[in-house]
Amino acid sequence: MNPLAATAAALVAPGKGILAADESIPTMSARLAKAGVPPTGHNRHAYREMLVTTPGLSQGISGVILCAETLGQRVSDGRPFPVAIRELGMLPGIKADTGTRPLAGTTGETVTEGLDGLAPRLRRYAGAGAMFAKWRAVFRIGPGSPSAIAIRANAQALARYASACQKAGLVPIVEPEVLMEGDHSLSQCEVVTSLVLLQVTSELQDYGVDFGGIVLKPNMVLPGSASAGHATAGQVAVATAAVLGALPAALAGVAFLSGGQRPARATENLAALQQMPRIWPFTFSFGRALVDPALAAWRGEDGRVAAGQLALARRVAMNVAALEGRYNPEQDFAPELA
Ligand code: G3H
Repeated sequence: MNPLAATAAALVAPGKGILAADESIPTMSARLAKAGVPPTGHNRHAYREMLVTTPGLSQGISGVILCAETLGQRVSDGRPFPVAIRELGMLPGIKADTGTRPLAGTTGETVTEGLDGLAPRLRRYAGAGAMFAKWRAVFRIGPGSPSAIAIRANAQALARYASACQKAGLVPIVEPEVLMEGDHSLSQCEVVTSLVLLQVTSELQDYGVDFGGIVLKPNMVLPGSASAGHATAGQVAVATAAVLGALPAALAGVAFLSGGQRPARATENLAALQQMPRIWPFTFSFGRALVDPALAAWRGEDGRVAAGQLALARRVAMNVAALEGRYNPEQDFAPELA
């Protein structure tokens, strides 16, 4: 197996998922402030250190996605974050995009940027210890959106990034996210996600990207958060598996994002997805659905690090149970977690 395929296979190894702890400085600051924690650099560092040093984290986490700020920092014992993560039995990764910007020619749509200077940046990240990288494209369902040009522009950027990653020896995590925000139905989300994935696959093929060295990170197919409709986990799993049907068999694996679903809901849907016939590993690459309970339990207090770590370990354990067919929603849907 070539080194990229080996890293991709390790990221989607049985019984493991990926922790997304790569929020940009503004996003992380907003989440800290919302949790009542002063949004300082000190607290961002303390929070990330709390997450990655959670005892036993590597039992359910294969890799941790960091932002550039954290990649260059050290944990309290002096080890750089990527070194500590490796020594704790996980793979360090990095968010490689620089966020979304308005896409000219559209009404309110965005394109994800970060292609300028990407190759040398990826080489620097690899030199700092990163083994994989992530790029997130965002699509909003609404009147007239996503437009064909927004789908094309974002899919092409994902493919250019993925190609550059593989040249730099990094496994690309390709993240096209159709947002849950909106009043769309499950079937509208299914159609849009399917169109997006077809375009992304076609661009990846055109750019000659090796699918065996890619992890796809899509949204689950869900009704919009403002829609009146509710979908069962079984319905979400059927619709989600349907949109993945046209992906190449060589793809290393699929690691779903949580997209703002409540933690237990994301886990329940992940468990249902394991029941679907498929040819790739299905796992999780959750951000909020793993870390929100940890942030709430920690509250920015030194004396509550263990409580924050326990909350993260609990969510990881629930998602591992989902991967392994042992998940029991009745034990998980505590009011504060559901
Ligand atoms: O960019 C988004 C993260 O990689 C996934 O975060 O699970 O909170 O949607 P999420």
